[in-house]
Amino acid sequence: MPFFSRLSLSILTLIFTTKASSWQMPAEYPIQASPNGRHFVTSTGEPFFWQADTAWVMFHRLKLTEVQKYRDDRAAKGFNMLLAVAVNQFGKVDQDPNRAGDLPLLNRDPTKPNEPYWTHVDEVVQMAWERGIRIAMFPSWGNYIHDNVDNPKSINASNARAFGTWIGKRYPGLPKMLVADTNPYWTNKSAVSNNYKLGGRHETLRYTDYSAVYDELAAGLIEGEESKAMITIHCTNQWFEGGTIALASAFFGDRKWLTFDTSQSGHASYPPNPPIPWWNAARGYEPVELMYASTNPRPVLDNGAKYENRYDNSKPVNPYGNASDVVLMLSEVFSGAAGLTYGADNVMQFYIPDLFEPANSGPARSWAEDIHLPGSSQMQYIKKVILNRPSPLDRVPDQSIIVGDSGTDAKHVTAIRDGNGRWLMVYTPTRKAFTIDTSSLGEGSVESSWYDPLTGICQVFEWQRRLGNVTFTPPLNGMHSDWVLVLETKNNA
Ligand SMILES: *[C@@H]1O[C@H](CO)[C@@H](O)[C@H](O)[C@H]1NC(C)=O
Ligand SMILES: *[C@@H]1O[C@H](CO)[C@@H](O)[C@H](O)[C@H]1NC(C)=O
Ligand SMILES: *[C@@H]1O[C@H](CO)[C@@H](O)[C@H](O)[C@H]1NC(C)=O
Ligand SMILES: *[C@@H]1O[C@H](CO)[C@@H](O)[C@H](O)[C@H]1NC(C)=O
Repeated sequence: MPFFSRLSLSILTLIFTTKASSWQMPAEYPIQASPNGRHFVTSTGEPFFWQADTAWVMFHRLKLTEVQKYRDDRAAKGFNMLLAVAVNQFGKVDQDPNRAGDLPLLNRDPTKPNEPYWTHVDEVVQMAWERGIRIAMFPSWGNYIHDNVDNPKSINASNARAFGTWIGKRYPGLPKMLVADTNPYWTNKSAVSNNYKLGGRHETLRYTDYSAVYDELAAGLIEGEESKAMITIHCTNQWFEGGTIALASAFFGDRKWLTFDTSQSGHASYPPNPPIPWWNAARGYEPVELMYASTNPRPVLDNGAKYENRYDNSKPVNPYGNASDVVLMLSEVFSGAAGLTYGADNVMQFYIPDLFEPANSGPARSWAEDIHLPGSSQMQYIKKVILNRPSPLDRVPDQSIIVGDSGTDAKHVTAIRDGNGRWLMVYTPTRKAFTIDTSSLGEGSVESSWYDPLTGICQVFEWQRRLGNVTFTPPLNGMHSDWVLVLETKNNA
C-alpha cells in the first residue's frame, strides 16, 4: 500500500472515530414552543409534555453503567427530560474530576474544554436518547459567573460567547438553561448569603449586573446550534425586597433568546427568612400563574419544586418532602405549566455513600435506593391526564370554573379546560366537595370520571348534565386525598 493512502486511511479512521464518539443530533430531537406559544411540541408538531427529573450531577458523578441503570428506571416511569449540569455543580472546577478522573476544563478556562470529559457527556446524552429521554443542559452552574469562594469566576463577558458557541455546536437540539441557582443581578454569592443571615438587604450589598455575560452565553449557543435554540435561565428562589422578582422572564423578558420561562418555587413551604421574599413551595402555582400571565407567551415551567426526601427549607429539624408533596405539581400544571420537574434529594446529587459527601439537605441514602421513591412513579400520571385529552395543546387554565374559595397552599383547588369546550378538569388535593361552573362545556353528552393521579386509574360515574353551579364530592374510598374530576363531551369531537 503506498504511503499516502495508508496515511489518508488513518486520517479517515480518525475523522470517523471522532464523529462516532461525539453527539449526532437526530432530526426528531429538538422540541419547540407550540403555535400559541404556551406549550412544547416535537419537531413534527406533536404535543410534548415536559416530564423532567433533576439529575444535576449525572455527567459528573455517574459511570456509564450507572447511567444505564438510572436511565432505564426513569424511562420506565415516563420521564422524557433530565436536567443536567455540564460544568460541575459541586466541588471545584479545577480539582474535582468525574469518575474517570477527567476535569471539564483545562486551567478553569471555558474556552479550553477537556475532550475526555466531554466524550463521556456525549455518551450519556446518547444513552438517554436510546430510551427517548432528552437532556436539558446547563452549560455551567451559576457560581462560575459570580464570584464564589470555591470557584472564583471563570466565565466572563469576554469568553462566554466562545464557550456558548462550543456548547451549542456540540450539543445542538438540547434545551439549554444558561446557569443555575443564581440571580443575574446579584453581586457575589457570599455577600448575598451574609445579607440573608442578617435578615434582609443591607446598605453594603450592591447589585452587580452580570446580564452581559448571560447575553453573550446565549448569543454563543444560538450561533453554535443548527436548530432553533430553546434557552432559559434557572434563577434561585429568593430575591430581595425591591429587587427583581425571581423569574427568568422578570430578568430577561425582553430578550429574544428567552424562549421558555422558569421559576424555582423551591424547597421551603413557608417564607423562612422574612423580610426577604421567597416563593413558597406549597404555592408553586403562584410563580406559574405570574409567568403564564406574561403578555409574551412562552412555555412556563417550575424548574425546582419540592424534592422528595428533602427537608423542608433543607433543615434536618423539619419534615422532609414526600409523595404527597410532589403530586401537588398537578396544581402547577393546571395553572398553565407546560410540564413538571420532579426531584429527589439523593438523586439530584447522585449520592453514593463512602464516595461523596452527602449534601445533608435530606436523609442521606444512596441514589440507587432513592430512585424508587413513590413520587417518581406518580409523575407519569400527571402527564397522562393532560395527554389523554383531545387537543391538549388548546388547554387553558381557568380558575373562574371554581365557585367560591379555591383554597391555598396544599389545599388549593385548580381548574383547566379545553379552549373549544370539549372538556374541563378540576384537581383537588383536599378530598372535600367543591362547586364548579360547568357552562364552558360545549354541546353533547358528557362523560364524567374521577382520575386517580397516583395510579392513573379512572372511575367513570353517572352525572346528569345541568346548568348552573354543581357540587362534586371526590371518592372517599381512596387512601389519599388527590383527585382529578374529568368532564369530557363525547359527541362533538
Ligand atoms: C475573562 O477570564 C479570562 C480567564 O478565563 C481572563 O483571561 C480574562 O482577562 C477575563 N476577562 C475579563 C473581561 O474579565
Ligand atoms: C464577596 O462578598 C463578601 C461579603 O460582602 C466580601 O467579603 C468578598 O470580598 C466579596 N468577594 C469578592 C471577590 O468581591
Ligand atoms: C407526607 O408527610 C405528611 C407530613 O409531613 C403526612 O401528613 C403525609 O401523610 C405524608 N404522605 C405520605 C404519602 O407519606
Ligand atoms: C353560582 O354560585 C355563585 C357563588 O355562590 C353565585 O354568585 C352565582 O349566582 C351562582 N350561579 C348560578 C347560576 O346559580
